[in-house]
Amino acid sequence: MKSVAVLSLLCAAALAQAPKFRAYNYDESKVGAYSLPDPLQLASGKHVTSAKIWKTQRRPELLKLIEAQMFGKTPAGPWHVTYSSPVVENAALGGKAIRKQLTMSIEGHADGPQIHLLLYLPANAKKPVPVVLGLNFSGNHTVSLDPGIEMHEVWVRNKKQLPAPESRGTQAEQWQVEKILAAGMGLATIYYSEIEPDYVGGMKEGVRSLFFRAGQTEPPPDEWGAIAAWAWGLSRALDYMEKDKQIDARHVAVFGHSRLGKTAVWAGAHDTRFAAVISNNSGEGGAAISKRDYGETIEHLNVAFPHWFCGNYKQYTNHPENLPFDAHELLALIAPRPLYVASAEEDRGSDPRGEFLGALHAGPVYELMGKKGLGTDQMPGLHQPIQHDVAYHVRAGKHDVTAYDWEQYLAFLKQHFSK
Ligand code: GCU
Repeated sequence: MKSVAVLSLLCAAALAQAPKFRAYNYDESKVGAYSLPDPLQLASGKHVTSAKIWKTQRRPELLKLIEAQMFGKTPAGPWHVTYSSPVVENAALGGKAIRKQLTMSIEGHADGPQIHLLLYLPANAKKPVPVVLGLNFSGNHTVSLDPGIEMHEVWVRNKKQLPAPESRGTQAEQWQVEKILAAGMGLATIYYSEIEPDYVGGMKEGVRSLFFRAGQTEPPPDEWGAIAAWAWGLSRALDYMEKDKQIDARHVAVFGHSRLGKTAVWAGAHDTRFAAVISNNSGEGGAAISKRDYGETIEHLNVAFPHWFCGNYKQYTNHPENLPFDAHELLALIAPRPLYVASAEEDRGSDPRGEFLGALHAGPVYELMGKKGLGTDQMPGLHQPIQHDVAYHVRAGKHDVTAYDWEQYLAFLKQHFSK
């Protein structure tokens, strides 16, 4: 074979193998200097001196900025969502729970997304119960081994598959339904891909395409990505819960792990009806500071998951320093509501220290509103939760949700929801 041909073959092979993004930095000494914007400084340069100025000026301006540059704007309502009457079982989980499941669909789109909202409520509750609402990764039937839950089609990458019966309860460890019920709370969950399947092009099968204006095939660069669409689904579930007399809708905490932690943070920042927010290992694009070069990068998010955030976010791919805000300001949008950020020691990609710093630097906004932030700039050791109005812990182990995490979240919510 001619050497030129060999060379071009080699080049093609090298190109095919070339990493599409820079390797993550895991060396604390190479993080480099960065500066964080002050959440309490208005775009005009003026300082926010009161809770009122935060609420009426700074919060709306920051929300708009983060919306237009990162998650994308959600089309204005009203939403014509239809809720089927729930299928109710009064003695699920061996009599510990009332279980209901209902279907949410968008009016006029009978063949569009069918979103199943599953609820476990403590049996024998004397009054409406607080609820933890979170999206699940693998189908409603995976959150508990309880045999009754209907199984629906689940999306695996770009293929629709019927859930195998053996996948029932495979996420039970991650959901801890019985612990939630024992704490006197309910669990509400939706399989996230029913709102929009999680792959490039999944939009065609999800809710976003239903809101296109004539001639549109893609949202404009400042309109919603998939994460905002999943967050939209959480808000529509809350609309239902506001009408369910067994639920105390003023006490619904939104929870999520990983990409669904990013989603929970955005849902809580965007929709102030959520009474508390729990971010479990949400990492880059969630609680972790983006300008801090450790673990996952904006570049990786935009290359590996270009459908998650809006078009405008792409301009920060190699320039986190140009991002006009950072994760601490995203988290500050949740103030004064209780916020829990949690990390896992081995989950270096999510940057545990960066998540701690995100929670820490949201503190001044909480404090302006008479609440308590983390109160220390020392990152706590393993299994030493700090729980004020902002809470944080790092546990041993990998990227996951564990019984330990739930024990902390439930204690935290109990303390705040009983006030
Ligand atoms: C990937 C992605 C993360 C995300 C995670 C998950 O690792 O890079 O940003 O949090 O998936 O959702 O499990």
